[in-house]
Amino acid sequence: MIESWLSAGTGSTRIVVGKSLGGMALFYPDERVTIVTDETLLGLYGAMLKPFDVIVLPSGETGKSLGHVERLYEEFCARKLTRESLVVAFGGGAVSDCVGFAAATYLRGLRLSIFATTLLAQADAAIGGKNGVNLGGYKNLVGTIRQPELCVFDVEYLLSLSEREFRGGFAEIIKHAVIADAELFSELEIRAARALERDLGTLEYLVAQSVRIKSKVVQEDENESDARRLLNFGHTIGHSVELQSGLPHGEAVAIGMVREARLCVARGTLISSDCNRIEDVIRSYGLPTDTGSSISLSAIERDKKRTGDQIQAPILRGIGLSGVVRVPLSEFVEEREA
Ligand SMILES: NC(=O)c1ccc[n+]([C@@H]2O[C@H](COP(=O)([O-])OP(=O)(O)OC[C@H]3O[C@@H](n4cnc5c(N)ncnc54)[C@H](O)[C@@H]3O)[C@@H](O)[C@H]2O)c1
Ligand SMILES: [Zn+2]
Repeated sequence: MIESWLSAGTGSTRIVVGKSLGGMALFYPDERVTIVTDETLLGLYGAMLKPFDVIVLPSGETGKSLGHVERLYEEFCARKLTRESLVVAFGGGAVSDCVGFAAATYLRGLRLSIFATTLLAQADAAIGGKNGVNLGGYKNLVGTIRQPELCVFDVEYLLSLSEREFRGGFAEIIKHAVIADAELFSELEIRAARALERDLGTLEYLVAQSVRIKSKVVQEDENESDARRLLNFGHTIGHSVELQSGLPHGEAVAIGMVREARLCVARGTLISSDCNRIEDVIRSYGLPTDTGSSISLSAIERDKKRTGDQIQAPILRGIGLSGVVRVPLSEFVEEREA
């Protein structure tokens, strides 16, 4: 078990990463907690959830809407929750984003804990306090930042994930290595087979490394005025891909990372052999490197990082070396057309 703390302006989070940590009752022994989960997880882990008061959202992105946030408010209200009440998001990134937003805004903030059950959520979405829902077909347009008080990442839950959902999570771990840690990148190259076999020790190591890198960035810049923008690597193009192709987040980000790495080669900041290594590692985790069809980048216009016709985007100077610079929108479009 690996324990760490993320301390930022909106609160401090105790983060526990481990394998076979035991059920939820161990982490929430005598609290009157309200668990929010999704239909899939209720089906898989219903027996474990039985002692708790449970609210259920639809699975996946459908749950991430203002309509479901309103329903959560009504459920919280019916239960007479107070600001001392603890809400636990039990699920992947869609659940933690939606519940995180509802918990941060109801009564201007309930206590929140995230028990993350997908690789993507354990390695990324559940860390750093960002929450939100989609609006009008655009991703995460409404949201806020507020740190939960406890995150539990037990990699044993990853054993029930579908192969596709499982692989998608590696995109965010690869992203963390590419922007900040050359050593982790080499480990990802070496450990691909063990990781894909879902060896729990390997998964625990990779999730813990992701927690370390993301926590450091968030502690430096919780509100995304500078360093936190590095975490958007692959996402400027990735969000457009996700929106239009309907591919899951991790796959869309994998494609986005390849395209944005090529953009860095075109800008002369990244050597093409490093770009090839990035593409190879993405491929070795069974993730796509292209959509096979053309993608319009109109969603970039709604990108939260846009100022006028430029975007504050992460630019790679090598593997594990990155910085944020203003990039004209046209360069993203040209990369698509290249
Ligand atoms: N807030 C952030 O900083 C941040 C960062 C990255 C991604 N995200 C968001 O996270 C979301 C994607 O996360 P995700 O892939 O975890 O999505 P998800 O929550 O939709 O989970 C994917 C699917 O896996 C199922 N599932 C979850 N745990 C399972 C388990 N243990 N066994 C079997 N099935 C399981 C879910 O029911 C769902 O159908 C996106 O909405 C993305 O925008 C947020
Ligand atoms: Zn992401």
